[in-house]
Amino acid sequence: MKKVVVITSGGDAPGMNAALYGIVKKATEENIEVYGAKCGYIGIIEENFVPLTIENTFPYLRQGGTILETIRFPAFQEKEVQRTAVEIMEKHDFDALIVIGGDGSYKGAAKLSQFYFPVIAIPATIDNDIFGTENSLGFSTAVSNATAVIDKLSTTAASHGHIFVVEVMGRHSGNIAKKVGKAVGADMTIIPEKEFTTEEVIESLDLSKKQDKKYSMIVTAEGAISCLELTKNIERNSKYKVHPLILGHIQRGGDPACEDRILGIEFGEVAIKLLKKKKYGIALRVYGGKIDALPLSEYL
Ligand code: F6P
Repeated sequence: MKKVVVITSGGDAPGMNAALYGIVKKATEENIEVYGAKCGYIGIIEENFVPLTIENTFPYLRQGGTILETIRFPAFQEKEVQRTAVEIMEKHDFDALIVIGGDGSYKGAAKLSQFYFPVIAIPATIDNDIFGTENSLGFSTAVSNATAVIDKLSTTAASHGHIFVVEVMGRHSGNIAKKVGKAVGADMTIIPEKEFTTEEVIESLDLSKKQDKKYSMIVTAEGAISCLELTKNIERNSKYKVHPLILGHIQRGGDPACEDRILGIEFGEVAIKLLKKKKYGIALRVYGGKIDALPLSEYL
């Protein structure tokens, strides 16, 4: 193992830069050269490779986003595009690819592995919805970011006795909503995995009033119902006036929480350790609080 290429792919996740640093740190110890392809899988196709060194990764380990940048690239689902990617990586003498990303990126990594090219995937998505892993880079930061904003909202809400419906990210997953809802003491948390009715939401607001709470807070995951639609439904069916708020990309922004930095560095180091032992065709994960790996074929 002499030369590896890394991509960050899909939605950016705080902790991706820490993972790049972890990879480079361990690779440098092992005399392995590291290159990054810019903007995810498309960077491989466009042969847009940049050398990654301690000098250009260390300063960013504490910074959110991804210095390699990322673009969603649906064309990568096509077999011919995947084959081209493998040919290009071979042409550039890359011995392995490390993919840092979410669900869709994992699928791409699994497909490339079918061409017998060595691939390791590192879980990174604020949604924390990748099969098999208890944690993914960015999740802890997104939960903290959303909680911090709702905490700010709470002081003004309490002063006016307002009702807020706050929408957090999670297209297919209620993971962020569940954690945030708990952290802020939401009156109700709505997630895509569980059906709900407007009546139940109104009942939760009735209870909040009965309990003399100074304000009410409903947290909804974007994949369950938008806060604008929910606001309309509540106002149509009750006497309540509701203030909707979409938290949006602020959840993915800013610097990684400590947990994501540490996890990022550890994932990066483990990826290189495993490649060195010729273990690939795998996806790293957190299981029982420890890092281990599943076969990438699980993600086809
Ligand atoms: O990265 C996951 C995620 O943040 C989802 O929670 C959200 O639905 C989506 O990405 C937003 O993607 P984009 O930034 O491409 O609009």
